[in-house]
Amino acid sequence: MEDVFTAIASPNIAFIKYWGKRGNLAKTPMNDSISMTLDPAVLRTETTLMLSDSLPSDLFVLNGKQREDEELTEALGLWRKRLAGKGFSDKTRVLVVSSNNFPIASGIASSASGFSALAEALAAAFQVTDLKEKSILARLGSGSACRSVLGGFVRWQKGNRDDGEDSYSVQIAPKEHWPELVDVLAIASKKEKKVGSRAGMKQTVATSELYPKRIEALEKRIPEMEAAIRNKDFEKLAAGIMRDSNSMHGVMLDTEPPILYLNDVSRDIIYAICEYNQSGVKAAYTFDAGPNSHIITTKERAKEVKSLLKEIDGVMDVLVAPVGDAPKLLKPNTALAEKTLKEVGM
Ligand code: PMV
Repeated sequence: MEDVFTAIASPNIAFIKYWGKRGNLAKTPMNDSISMTLDPAVLRTETTLMLSDSLPSDLFVLNGKQREDEELTEALGLWRKRLAGKGFSDKTRVLVVSSNNFPIASGIASSASGFSALAEALAAAFQVTDLKEKSILARLGSGSACRSVLGGFVRWQKGNRDDGEDSYSVQIAPKEHWPELVDVLAIASKKEKKVGSRAGMKQTVATSELYPKRIEALEKRIPEMEAAIRNKDFEKLAAGIMRDSNSMHGVMLDTEPPILYLNDVSRDIIYAICEYNQSGVKAAYTFDAGPNSHIITTKERAKEVKSLLKEIDGVMDVLVAPVGDAPKLLKPNTALAEKTLKEVGM
């Protein structure tokens, strides 16, 4: 068997963040989270998957470099088990060639777009059409990836079961519901983060005294945010987005040893947005596990927000990403898979 599948997917930006697992291997979260999928025309991962019985080992090539990737190796083990009944045998080796058009591991959710693109390719390889199943496959790679299997506005239901069968994403609304929203991204660092999200969130759950308070507060905030999306209530949404980003970075700082992803540029951006909002809420800042800011605003204000960000020292680049669609399959890039195998001498 030698089959090739190519898919593209995009990152999502969480309005209510996921930071903490209740099940480490199943990657089941402590709380529901809410996100907007970004437009793959601006930010995307393209992944080619080759399945072959004749390769000597699994092989991952990320942005042109061969990598040992612990998370991908672990996910493959879980996927092999889960898809065994559909023909993913222990003998089947995989080649994964993946490239992003944005910096990896810098708070732009590269793991979300990477694992959702791979889940899309895997689903095509093993005839998985059910969205819930696709979301679970992506989650087994990286939690936040399970939101990127859907377009528009998405809620990841945490579920309660230990096996994670009730932990997957559902769409709150398609992108057409609120096409005016955009994410204006300010790149303040292209470096890889010091503490990965997997290790960081584990440490927060284990040591932060504020963490239980965050989880408790989310009980109320999550339905409010879902309603703000359904009602297209920008003020409520923006206030909730900033509150949740502050809350997540608060429990990160409260972790032992403390985790700080924000830098001086992020701080200047927070102040600039607060000032911009003084005459009424027009934009919301939010940060993932990195210093790069995501400013959620409307298309008509994107230009103004972009120039405001460009004036801040340390901002290297500004991108505007509208709301996006679900991952897509492309024509299989067999030539890329074959070229890669040749390059590594397989
Ligand atoms: O990349 P993951 O799935 O290990 O988790 C990252 C979580 C945040 O990006 C920090 C928040 C979120 O909900 O996207």
